[in-house]
Amino acid sequence: MNNIKACIFDLDGVIVDTAVYHYKAWRRLANTMGFDFTEQQNEQLKGVSRVRSLQLILGWGGVTKTEAEQEQLATQKNIWYTEMINQMTPAEILPGAREFVESCRQAGLKTALGSASKNSMTILDKLDITHLFDAIIDGNKVSKAKPDPEVFLKGAQELGIEPQYCVVFEDAIAGVEAAKAGGMKAVGIGDPELLHEANLVVSGLNKVTVEQLEMLP
Ligand code: BG6
Ligand code: MG
Repeated sequence: MNNIKACIFDLDGVIVDTAVYHYKAWRRLANTMGFDFTEQQNEQLKGVSRVRSLQLILGWGGVTKTEAEQEQLATQKNIWYTEMINQMTPAEILPGAREFVESCRQAGLKTALGSASKNSMTILDKLDITHLFDAIIDGNKVSKAKPDPEVFLKGAQELGIEPQYCVVFEDAIAGVEAAKAGGMKAVGIGDPELLHEANLVVSGLNKVTVEQLEMLP
């Protein structure tokens, strides 16, 4: 491999489907305030930080809260969310994800995690895949949310690889934008129409090979 030296993976929606747990916890919170929101609206929360997600949800419910109240609400949501992710097992890794990360490593590529989630370490631990990443950049290590490229640039830096030799794997539009803004290639996981800025879009890590990475447009 010459053009590609590192792979940087988003976590939620790429390696594991935590969106269902985020949705359950946010919905429970919205319900306590007397409103609900749809699965379609939940799509807009993918890749979005915890604080920003809460602001969007409050907007949907037409509810105004002080900053202190918002902090309390976000904390409550995270308590419910962590109760669920603490029950996760390696069986919940998305099809082919573990195998793909392993084959990258076998091919001599560096691997990093680049996630907005402050719960990344817990999730990786529950899935028993922490050791598969040479660098882990999570929501605790960044100050700017995707589509800002900070999370991926920090990952590349920690790996010691120039951005142009990195491929990012992302399910969120903001994540693909972040990768491109950082001068990296992007493989979108999901809908090709939504993720049209990516160099390649596949339905999951079971649908891409390490050999394909060298041929990305
Ligand atoms: C992203 C998810 O990976 O992490 C978002 O796609 C989530 O839905 C964000 O809001 C922050 O996660 P956490 O675990 O720090 O609340
Ligand atoms: Mg994601």
